[in-house]
Amino acid sequence: MSETAKIIINGKEYELPVITGSEGEQAIDIAQLRALTGVITLDNGFTSTGSCQSAITFLDGEKGILRYRGYRIEELCQKSSFLEVAYLLIHGELPNAAQEAEWEHHITHHSMIKEDIKRYWDAWPQTAHPMALLSSVTSALSTFYEDSHNVYDPRQVEISIHRLIAKMPTVAAYAYKKSQGQPYMYPINRYNYIERFLYMMFALPVEEYKMNPVLVKALNQILILHADHEQNCSTSTVRLVGSSHANLFASIAAGVTALWGPLHGGANQAVLEMLDKIHADGGNVDKWVAKAKDKDDNFKLMGFGHRVYKNFDPRALILKETADEVLATLGVVDPRLEIARKLEEIALSDPYFIERKLYPNVDFYSGIIYKAMGFPTKMFTVLFALGRLPGWIAQWKEMIESKETKIGRPRQIYTGATERPWVPVNKR
Ligand code: CMC
Repeated sequence: MSETAKIIINGKEYELPVITGSEGEQAIDIAQLRALTGVITLDNGFTSTGSCQSAITFLDGEKGILRYRGYRIEELCQKSSFLEVAYLLIHGELPNAAQEAEWEHHITHHSMIKEDIKRYWDAWPQTAHPMALLSSVTSALSTFYEDSHNVYDPRQVEISIHRLIAKMPTVAAYAYKKSQGQPYMYPINRYNYIERFLYMMFALPVEEYKMNPVLVKALNQILILHADHEQNCSTSTVRLVGSSHANLFASIAAGVTALWGPLHGGANQAVLEMLDKIHADGGNVDKWVAKAKDKDDNFKLMGFGHRVYKNFDPRALILKETADEVLATLGVVDPRLEIARKLEEIALSDPYFIERKLYPNVDFYSGIIYKAMGFPTKMFTVLFALGRLPGWIAQWKEMIESKETKIGRPRQIYTGATERPWVPVNKR
């Protein structure tokens, strides 16, 4: 017999179905609640509200588990390429050899962007934040492909997916080149996805570019770790925008914007800015930890805490090792990294952080790695977006293909003035 939940409202009892997921998670299905009772639920920040059923990513915040389509993140990081993981997320299964070759072929051969697009950002200031460029160019790309906006045509969706995954690194790298006043570097087909991006970022037309395999491996791993994280702020945004049947480019552009905020993807930039500030202030870590604990001070330790992970962030565990490897290989000596290590040490042993289950999250280590790799701070969140793109696409596709999907339209409890008469200006 299936489970139900009972709720008593104004003395009357109602029974609601309980849904159980494949990992035993349970939810009360309240879809009929308002129709039955006239009452709605209220859940600021959606801490207890599921927005969909999804077969893509499983996350257990208490146990620190993260799996894509059933595969452990730790194993994918060791054995897969980012493009393979993208295929897995979007199509549900790891590709066989022929599928993988075809997938890579499509992504490789869609990586150029129209020359006109480059002129589009000539109008932008050189200091433009690359996340602004990324979201607006992603949206602008849709204007070149208006023949593939039908969200219910599988071929149009497929080619939009190829174009987005292939072109996003080119857009990201060009945004960086623009900020440096350097010439844009065209994508090169003989490179794999990660190599191609590093080349477009860091190569110059005047000299040979030397690929560093340690950086290629680290970036592959970081992008895999960011590839999906179920119903977070940006993914929920992509689903919500997509539920209005906005085209895939427009939905992804909205996700980029949501990711930009410092409480979400923007935290990796905020971590480095915080380390800069502490360094400029003389490196007194204790002082800044005290500020983070002070209720009257709105300073937070960026890169610490997570809405879902309450014991450790499995992505951060992997990245901590990657950070050690990258820093050792590159021989980077940076006082900010010392500050980071001290912060990590203090926060892991301080009762304030222990009681609140605040641990270093993925952004704490990814920011440090990006810095060591030579990415400017403003590019950090763009790298998060490159990693999250397959997850956004997979979630959008699942939403569009689901028979359950309706346009997203939450309700509210109104707390404003009740009806009152209009008052002439001389009487206000
Ligand atoms: N530094 C100091 N105190 C903190 C921090 C922090 N980074 N994070 C949470 N707290 C305190 C918070 O003040 C509250 O204390 P109290 O119970 O005394 O009022 C308690 O811990 C619970 O925090 P919360 O704000 O209710 O937690 P939340 O689930 O709403 O927020 C968070 C999660 C990630 C937004 C928050 O921890 C934060 O702002 N962290 C810093 C930003 C950051 O690193 N974000 C990246 C998240 S990982 C990447 C991603 O998936 O987007």
